[in-house]
Amino acid sequence: MRVDLFTIFPGLLEAVGSESLVGRARRSGLLDLRIHDLRSATIDPRRSVDDTPFGGGAGMVLAPGPVFGAVEAAQPPRPLFLLGPGGRRLDQALVRELADRGSAPGEGFSLLCGRYEGVDERVADHLVDDELSIGDYVLAGGEAAAFVVVEAVARLVPGVMGNEASAGEESFSDGLLEYPQYTRPAEFRGWPVPEVLRSGDHARVARWRRAQALARTLARRPDLVEARGGLSDDEVRLLAEHGYSAVSPRSPEEPPRREPHRPRRS
Ligand code: ADE
Repeated sequence: MRVDLFTIFPGLLEAVGSESLVGRARRSGLLDLRIHDLRSATIDPRRSVDDTPFGGGAGMVLAPGPVFGAVEAAQPPRPLFLLGPGGRRLDQALVRELADRGSAPGEGFSLLCGRYEGVDERVADHLVDDELSIGDYVLAGGEAAAFVVVEAVARLVPGVMGNEASAGEESFSDGLLEYPQYTRPAEFRGWPVPEVLRSGDHARVARWRRAQALARTLARRPDLVEARGGLSDDEVRLLAEHGYSAVSPRSPEEPPRREPHRPRRS
């Protein structure tokens, strides 16, 4: 899969993009990540990429010349997204959509990192295909957002995750948060691992995990339960069997929800 990034801070993205999962995916040839410096297409000796806004006001605006120049020279894979807080909100469904774009060699998508003060509107109107936001908060620029998008997508590219099962099983893959995980020691500072996980009874473990995922999602993100159409009768029963009052988030009067087993910090 090919992903092209356009930025005024190529060193920043090279640094984060050379480590961990993304770095490994690049080295193994599964991810062709190309980082382009927007200053490469500047013509003035100071290599400036921004200028003062027409009409006055504070801050500088990323000028169209360097941006168009860099993108046209690279001929990046489309769609090309401008990163900014006003864009379409990234979620796991969109991450999956982007990952699916890279199924043929050379195919993929591209990201243009804006600066928050502004990008000349002709870039949005005539160069990019869409705008993308990673959440309702304001970053100084799109670089951190670009890395979020790249890492979320890269882990879905076949072969990138060592354990293929884990990309599917965890949070959001079926609209639920992940169940709690434990490792050794079986007891830590007096807090034991739930007995069921040490029982060796795989069917019981699977049911417990499902109940925990449901209970945790109901407690923390009822909007996600609602988005998948509420709870089925089986799920309500499963929650009840595990000691949770399974109230659909659509029900108007909800009792306080019990959280799944959670060690307290003391
Ligand atoms: N640039 C500034 N804020 C951003 C955000 N929330 N998402 C993507 N790019 C941004």
